[in-house]
Amino acid sequence: MIRLKNLHKSYNSRRVLRGIDLNVEPGEFVFLTGPSGAGKSTLLRLLYAAERPTEGEVWVNGLRVDTLSHRELPRLRRSLGVIFQDFKLLPRKTVLENITFVLRFHGLSPKEAHRRAYLTLKRMGLHHRQSAYPATLSGGEQQRVAIARALAYQPRLILADEPTGNLDAELAAELMSLLCDINYQGATVVVATHDQSLLAAIPARVLVLERGGIGYDGIWPP
Ligand SMILES: Nc1ncnc2c1ncn2[C@@H]1O[C@H](COP(=O)(O)OP(=O)(O)O)[C@@H](O)[C@H]1O
Ligand SMILES: [Mg+2]
Repeated sequence: MIRLKNLHKSYNSRRVLRGIDLNVEPGEFVFLTGPSGAGKSTLLRLLYAAERPTEGEVWVNGLRVDTLSHRELPRLRRSLGVIFQDFKLLPRKTVLENITFVLRFHGLSPKEAHRRAYLTLKRMGLHHRQSAYPATLSGGEQQRVAIARALAYQPRLILADEPTGNLDAELAAELMSLLCDINYQGATVVVATHDQSLLAAIPARVLVLERGGIGYDGIWPP
């Protein structure tokens, strides 16, 4: 599902990732952890082609990402869902429209986009809020909408960057169990977090980024 070959990423003279080799198989649940500044977000951005590596290869779902053309970008983006710490909901669109917007972008008809968006919201227990605007929702509800948006197209790969960063402990646990369900249904899940308390929640593969490399790869605790 994910294959990294000798991946390097530098910003000016700062070498953030220094020769990472990694394979993630379909259906895996992977935590990417390490201290703040270790390069977790950078690595995720390389996976969804928000940035290009300085050197090395990035493969996602059989697609070579590091040399992807603009034209091929939608194909990559359709195969993955990204969840951010700051929800990035569109403030002038309703909850439902925030989701249909993305589905339309992926090429679904208005009717099908509406149907899928509604079903995904229902699954998140948020269908009663479909006509609300993001600002009127609680932080937890907003995060759930952002997750619904990432999942509505049923991507095979979910990338989450500090997804619990703005949530209290209870909502964080709820989110992790949701990601677990989605993983159980077959999606590959990668969660980047500096919060080591999350790692105890799920028996998953843990990758620790340190000094630009993968310092640990295995079950948790070591
Ligand atoms: N666009 C950028 N320009 C310059 N430096 C960056 C940029 N993005 C990240 N960095 C630097 O790369 C390092 C890794 O950042 P990041 O991937 O955000 O780490 P993490 O997510 O693990 O906290 C940090 O030192 C950060 O300052
Ligand atoms: Mg980060």
